[in-house]
Amino acid sequence: MLNFNQIPETPKFFGRRKGRVVRKAKQFLLENMLPQMQVTPKTDFSAEAIFGGPKKEICLEIGFGDGQHLYGQALNNPQNGYVGVEVFQNGVANLLTLISGIKEGDHLPESIDVHDFKVQNVRVFDDDVRLLFKALPDDFFDKIYLLFPDPWPKKKHAGRRFVNPENLKEIKRILKSGGIFRIATDHPVYKRHVLRTMHEDVNFVWTAKCGDDWRKEPSDWVKTKYQQKAIREGRRPVFFDYKKI
Ligand SMILES: C[S@@+](CC[C@H](N)C(=O)[O-])C[C@H]1O[C@@H](n2cnc3c(N)ncnc32)[C@H](O)[C@@H]1O
Repeated sequence: MLNFNQIPETPKFFGRRKGRVVRKAKQFLLENMLPQMQVTPKTDFSAEAIFGGPKKEICLEIGFGDGQHLYGQALNNPQNGYVGVEVFQNGVANLLTLISGIKEGDHLPESIDVHDFKVQNVRVFDDDVRLLFKALPDDFFDKIYLLFPDPWPKKKHAGRRFVNPENLKEIKRILKSGGIFRIATDHPVYKRHVLRTMHEDVNFVWTAKCGDDWRKEPSDWVKTKYQQKAIREGRRPVFFDYKKI
């Protein structure tokens, strides 16, 4: 019998996909709203096919968590298109809550039409981003966000960190030349890991010119849930912008 790890197309995932409970409104949104915004590895990735026309910028957010940053960016920049990827089902449902305004305890409508909502420029892949990489064309994204990825600080778990040469190869391929790969983290081990790994990759250059460029939030920033937790607990987030050469 095949073991999960032996199937080459299915990378092993370390983390949570499902919470204990998906509540009623969230289940409703996952069943009725997500299919209208969903992209899959079978999707034809062109601005026309996924957003219905050209976009000023097309951006990818990997591991959007509860979706605050993705939603905020999409709301602030209707001229852009956003592809968000998250494996955690409750996180995806939370993004749908932000977009639809439908919360637990609300009267649930008979049906839902995403065209009725203010934010129209978000598409979602609700699985492991590594399963989507092959479907994404070269030079497709203007920006890629990886915000507060799981740090896996123990040495024995270092191989699980998302910033690694294999994933960077794909990030480089799908990002346009001159495009930005933004990584935020609050973990000292991950800060060092990012600086070292990105420094070794000749395809990217760190854009920071002074301390404020990475210690302060970028001007277009929207706070994430994890960032707010880090600040409450006394950790200092940093923001690294790498430009693809
Ligand atoms: C520490 S949380 C940060 C969430 C969010 N970016 C924030 O700042 O609040 C990391 C998130 O990345 C997601 N994640 C980890 N690996 C992933 C992968 N390979 N594909 C998609 N999502 C992933 C996890 O499910 C989790 O929600």
